Amino acid sequence: MFAPRATARSLMGAVRTLGRNVHCDVNNRHPPSAASASYIRAPSSAPIPRKNLRMTALSRTKQVQDHLSKRSYHEMSNNADLQLGNVFDVKDKVALVTGGGSGIGLMCTQALAVNGAKVYIVGRTEEKLERVAEVHGKDIAGQIIPIVGDVSSKEGVKKIFSEIESREKCLCILVNNAGIASPKTDTSGEKSAEEVKEKFFDPTTVDEWTDLYSTNVVGPYLMTTAFVPLLQKSTELHHGWSGTVINITSISGLVRISQGHFSYNASKGAQVHLNKLLSAEIARAGLKIRVNSIAPGVFPSEMTTQESGDNQKSEMPKEHKGGLPSQRPGNDRDMAAAILFCASCQYLNGQTIPVDGGYLIQAGT
Ligand SMILES: NC(=O)c1ccc[n+]([C@@H]2O[C@H](COP(=O)([O-])OP(=O)(O)OC[C@H]3O[C@@H](n4cnc5c(N)ncnc54)[C@H](OP(=O)(O)O)[C@@H]3O)[C@@H](O)[C@H]2O)c1
Repeated sequence: MFAPRATARSLMGAVRTLGRNVHCDVNNRHPPSAASASYIRAPSSAPIPRKNLRMTALSRTKQVQDHLSKRSYHEMSNNADLQLGNVFDVKDKVALVTGGGSGIGLMCTQALAVNGAKVYIVGRTEEKLERVAEVHGKDIAGQIIPIVGDVSSKEGVKKIFSEIESREKCLCILVNNAGIASPKTDTSGEKSAEEVKEKFFDPTTVDEWTDLYSTNVVGPYLMTTAFVPLLQKSTELHHGWSGTVINITSISGLVRISQGHFSYNASKGAQVHLNKLLSAEIARAGLKIRVNSIAPGVFPSEMTTQESGDNQKSEMPKEHKGGLPSQRPGNDRDMAAAILFCASCQYLNGQTIPVDGGYLIQAGT
């Protein structure tokens, strides 16, 4: 509990905070959520009589003192604040999902858009993006808007940034999801030293490694750093909200086995570490932008099934990952839950969250 005998100085600070927050709320395009409003809520819910508008600084101080003495040390919320719609609120937020034309990116896009976000999807293939907007963008609370773009070069990222900057005041949610996979390496069974060289060294190329790195690591770095000004703007425009980056990494960057693709797993390990570096350095710069990553296990996508249907969705039989603790691969709802959590939990920063049906506990890290 706050000490009821707070000093006059701290009380005046509280009064000033009260005033500042009210001012901020009035100027915001979006009103504060019920949860944030509870911080400045007057002690009484009854309407303030007109004569009280002229209350002296002293009586105002007394009012805050009474309020503080009743509050516990953490911010309290009422029951309505804790309803799903308030806790996982992405309504009217502006989002950008790279690789939103298929697989996991499409799952993230749908989860954000059906809950009221305006979602820009970026990819290199216009046809895929248009199909997603047409099939999944109708009769929903939010919007899906295609932008053709390539995240693997600086020029490509500059173009994507200019496009968004010309249309929006801020970017609230950036999902760095675009990624590519590598050819398989045969790692099965025991081998002689010569066989290891033959299987691991001979078939690989430096281009395979650098192409993967450009898309899976450089891409998220360029996108995040280019969009920092628009992400910070989102923090400033929305009370109780911080602009947020969500990197789609992988359990492949966490497991000790190569899973038959050294270059891909190494790129994902680098992306996991990049996530940590960006969250720390952006915070150290004094900015309020959260950076987290979701590390998926196995989900149906063009990468994992090599195809998608007319609706851009891919399918994977349940038995495909029957050996996992979950006894199935991941699905749209699993990813929706993860992306909405990362986007809305304002106290989550710098983390990598595996969503993998227990893959990591089975395979070890
Ligand atoms: N599916 C899984 O089991 C799994 C597990 C762990 C992690 N992941 C990660 O999840 C992310 C999404 O992969 P996915 O499995 O959903 O595969 P996917 O269906 O192939 O999706 C990847 C998307 O990224 C886009 N893309 C690729 N390179 C791009 C570039 N340079 N610029 C812009 N867009 C680009 C692709 O579209 P275009 O080719 O048209 O550009 C495609 O829509 C990847 O980062 C992947 O590593 C997937």
